[in-house]
Amino acid sequence: MAKKPSVLITGASSGIGATYADRFARRGHDLVLVARDGARMEAMAADLRRETGVTIDILPADLTKHDQLAAVEARLRDDAGIGILVNNAGASLGGRFVDQVTEDVAQLVALNTTAVLRLASAVAPRLANAGEGAIINIGSVVGLAPELGLSVYGATKAFVLFLSQGLSLELGPKGVYVQAVLPSATRTEIWERSGADVNALSAVMEVGELVDAALVGFDRREPVTIPPLPDAADWDAYQSARRAMLPGFAQVHAAERYRTGA
Ligand SMILES: NC(=O)c1ccc[n+]([C@@H]2O[C@H](COP(=O)([O-])OP(=O)(O)OC[C@H]3O[C@@H](n4cnc5c(N)ncnc54)[C@H](OP(=O)(O)O)[C@@H]3O)[C@@H](O)[C@H]2O)c1
Repeated sequence: MAKKPSVLITGASSGIGATYADRFARRGHDLVLVARDGARMEAMAADLRRETGVTIDILPADLTKHDQLAAVEARLRDDAGIGILVNNAGASLGGRFVDQVTEDVAQLVALNTTAVLRLASAVAPRLANAGEGAIINIGSVVGLAPELGLSVYGATKAFVLFLSQGLSLELGPKGVYVQAVLPSATRTEIWERSGADVNALSAVMEVGELVDAALVGFDRREPVTIPPLPDAADWDAYQSARRAMLPGFAQVHAAERYRTGA
């Protein structure tokens, strides 16, 4: 049997990324784990290696630091064994926009968007050339909901969704599968890390259930997987409404309602 592709997972030291690592190892994939906390990933990997027999490399990196991000990009470019990228590392930030520190929001954007983009850009040409492989990008339902008040975090996740949909259209015909996964509130450390109390929320999904559902979507080759959404027809209707506007965008003149003052 052909060897399964290795999976490089960012943010693999906890939460959703650690759960993807567990699931892909149990499916028989070798892993490359990326996050800042190398010791934590090493401890996790020791258990997983023993239980599954797969090979696991640890690549500690702060993805907001250019040289460390570049090392992960190089691994994705050069290691022909890696056939799946899970772009999962991410963070949130508490507080309202006017109270957030400019440097902090810029760091958030660097991690949640620039790193995602650079890693996808590093691996996509090789996968397209091979005619196979997959990129999983972890977005969020917050990226569909400015009403939730998490403007910068939501904007980064809207970026992840748009990028994923665009890459899916471009790379799908070349044999490369791109999936955006949009979790809703899931019980991980992200809440505590951003100063929020997960127990104050009315509905929280357990991380194992979230990742297992996302992998059902992965196996079905869904472009967008929203594990908590009860009715998939709602997403389809949203996409149809968006697409219905597209032909109207090509106009020489402004719409009638803008052609008279006040
Ligand atoms: N949990 C939710 O409710 C929820 C909902 C929607 C979407 N998401 C998304 O799911 C993804 C995973 O988050 P999670 O919920 O699993 O949270 P988490 O448990 O806090 O995991 C975040 C992961 O990212 C890593 N990370 C953070 N900053 C990093 C940096 N500068 N460089 C490299 N790695 C870094 C962390 O490891 P180190 O600290 O070791 O670096 C950790 O492994 C994120 O993209 C998040 O936005 C989560």
